[in-house]
Amino acid sequence: MELATAITDRRSIRKYLDKDVPDELLIQAFELARWAPSGGNFQSWKFLVVKNRKIINKVANAFQEKVDTFTNWPEAEEYRETAESYRKNASFFREAPVLIVALSCGYKSVADLILSKKGEKDPLAMQMMENRRSVPTSIQQMGGFVAHLLLVLHSLGLGACWMSGPLIAKGEIEEILEVPGGEDVVACISVGYPAENPSAQPRKTVDELVVFVR
Ligand SMILES: Cc1cc2nc3c(=O)[nH]c(=O)nc-3n(C[C@H](O)[C@H](O)[C@H](O)COP(=O)(O)O)c2cc1C
Repeated sequence: MELATAITDRRSIRKYLDKDVPDELLIQAFELARWAPSGGNFQSWKFLVVKNRKIINKVANAFQEKVDTFTNWPEAEEYRETAESYRKNASFFREAPVLIVALSCGYKSVADLILSKKGEKDPLAMQMMENRRSVPTSIQQMGGFVAHLLLVLHSLGLGACWMSGPLIAKGEIEEILEVPGGEDVVACISVGYPAENPSAQPRKTVDELVVFVR
């Protein structure tokens, strides 16, 4: 598939055929997605490819429980209609044949090493550390990886949806998946053969997005 077509034709897919996605196809997707750039090329990421229905259900339940809780709070009243629609659709991935859980595995650049050695008592080191922490490389690089992965999955005829919503139950999901200490769940991606063909969501124009600084 041509790159421009893959980019413009990809949609978030939330409905899937009841059909297994072969491991080989998923491996093929990761073969390409692993070429995503990463901080210092440390590639400090790992991916759990969950195909076990019981485990996917457990993850969905853990998430849905949180959603049911906060959408029932009096504070949700003001947003009743959207909150209700979010509550109804939140754990759509329960039906997905595959749930990919993206793990970040502790990235420390040379800057992080030096700054932490200098210590939090040094105001300049502290300020630099805080600046780095406010835009974590681990999260930035995962965004790049997942964006690659979504395009590759689409080019292979698969549908996927990138989700940050379930991370509201991050601790529970890490427990269900027995994620070891030092590794963090940072994204979930549901995958399957598409059973819907959604129209494109609107995008801002380049003019609205880009400011040239000369
Ligand atoms: C970081 C991120 C988090 C997202 N989280 C969710 C989510 O929790 N649930 C969901 O249904 N879609 C989620 N999406 C999908 C977006 O809703 C979707 O990308 C957006 O509406 C544009 O639609 P498109 O992907 O079809 O172009 C997420 C997308 C991104 C990039």
